[in-house]
Amino acid sequence: MAAKSAARTLLLFLMVVAFLHHLLPPAVAAGSLKKNESRGHGKTLSFTLYQQETINKTGYIVVNGVAGASVSQTTTPFGTIYVFRDDLTVSSDKSSRVAGVAEGTSITTTLDGLQSLSLAKITVDHRGHRGSVSVLGGTYNTRPSDYPVLGGTGDFAYALGYVRSSPVDLRGRTVTYKMELHLYWPPYAHYAPVPHKPV
Ligand SMILES: *[C@@H]1O[C@H](CO)[C@@H](O)[C@H](O)[C@H]1NC(C)=O
Ligand SMILES: *[C@@H]1O[C@H](CO)[C@@H](O)[C@H](O)[C@H]1NC(C)=O
Repeated sequence: MAAKSAARTLLLFLMVVAFLHHLLPPAVAAGSLKKNESRGHGKTLSFTLYQQETINKTGYIVVNGVAGASVSQTTTPFGTIYVFRDDLTVSSDKSSRVAGVAEGTSITTTLDGLQSLSLAKITVDHRGHRGSVSVLGGTYNTRPSDYPVLGGTGDFAYALGYVRSSPVDLRGRTVTYKMELHLYWPPYAHYAPVPHKPV
């Protein structure tokens, strides 16, 4: 009788183990979470768009600066506040398909007029991804600048990474910047609640 009961207990135990084993992902069941293999790791997304900015049409100086360099193609006086809302196109040709918009502001923060603090919301509808990322960082007017991604909305919720902006063509009234978005979702984003759209 006792032997039968023990056998039944063992069978039950094995069934529970088998059930749990089936339920858990292989890495957890095997008792080891290998780096770069665990759930949520390694979700990355990179793509390139082109920011098209036309002075006095999509971007304006709204507060005049107070000192230093004068207004030129690449410089603005210290303290200048510039506001923009620029289309993002899929190629450097400004008549190519629009896949998003970058809206933001830059404040000139050096006396030589070449650097500023920039913040922007980049809204994208491209290759099946819809949402926005927000960035904040320093701009060097004549060189590539990297902006840390602060976060995102929609398909980019919980995204981190950086956006690199590089001047492509600084001549004329329309200025083109290559914008490379390099997004990364840290492991904990996998477990975070999906935000509902605000009404
Ligand atoms: C993870 O593995 C993939 C493919 O093996 C590799 O391309 C990627 O660079 C790795 N990522 C990290 C963070 O090690
Ligand atoms: C933009 O508008 C301002 C104010 O009207 C003017 O001073 C400036 O020359 C204009 N810039 C260009 C590049 O047209």
